[in-house]
Amino acid sequence: MRASDRIWVALDTPDLDTALQLADRLSGAVGGYKVGLELYGAHGPRVVEELRRRGAGVFVDLKLHDIPNTVAGSAAALARLGVSLFTMHALGGPTMLTRGVEAADRAADEAGVARPTGLAVTILTSHSDAELDAVGVAGPCSAAVLRLAGMARDAGAGGLVCSPLEIRAVREVFREATLVVPGIRPASTDVAGDDQTRKATPARAVADGADRLVIGRPITRADDPLAAAQAIAAEIERG
Ligand code: C5P
Repeated sequence: MRASDRIWVALDTPDLDTALQLADRLSGAVGGYKVGLELYGAHGPRVVEELRRRGAGVFVDLKLHDIPNTVAGSAAALARLGVSLFTMHALGGPTMLTRGVEAADRAADEAGVARPTGLAVTILTSHSDAELDAVGVAGPCSAAVLRLAGMARDAGAGGLVCSPLEIRAVREVFREATLVVPGIRPASTDVAGDDQTRKATPARAVADGADRLVIGRPITRADDPLAAAQAIAAEIERG
């Protein structure tokens, strides 16, 4: 895989024009784009269609968590759009994960598009051990992440979203996973007022075993986003 293909840019904006202008500037220099609730909520499937028209891979991060039948229907709808990656909360349980993946595969086959990778989100990195305790999930967070990673593997998930600091440990549990990793900070950039605490450089994350890097502000807030993306790809190559 080319280093640039590992870079997936988080389009964290509710504005479609802003998102598409950025995608046009970065065309060919990154692997794809992550569309979250903010942008998908504002524009829905049109975002995916517009990005796909530009030949880009699309990761729709809606973190599905509902009864299995509803998640299956949602995953199938995303698969028909031709998304490459989508997310489900592991806390939705093994039946929900299995039904989501199976429905997505079936819908993709029927629509004649590539099957997407259904990723499980284990424990949100915003959660503390105390919060986990408050919702009645056995902690600590580090143990819950590994337990849910194993459950997601057994349920047929294609991979996981995890923090840079978890890559090596979850790889031990779920060897064949596609690992998608946010919290990336290039050695050369500083994000003003940065809120990421569990972070790593692109080269470190890839060396540890990350398959795809979700990168937002180091690229989207750069004076020259294309140059920033190219510098990150070079940093990965060098690493
Ligand atoms: O701008 P930045 O590079 O921090 O963006 C990271 C992206 O990854 C954001 O869209 C954020 O919501 C997402 N994310 C994260 N940490 C997680 C899960 C997702 O930063 N644990």
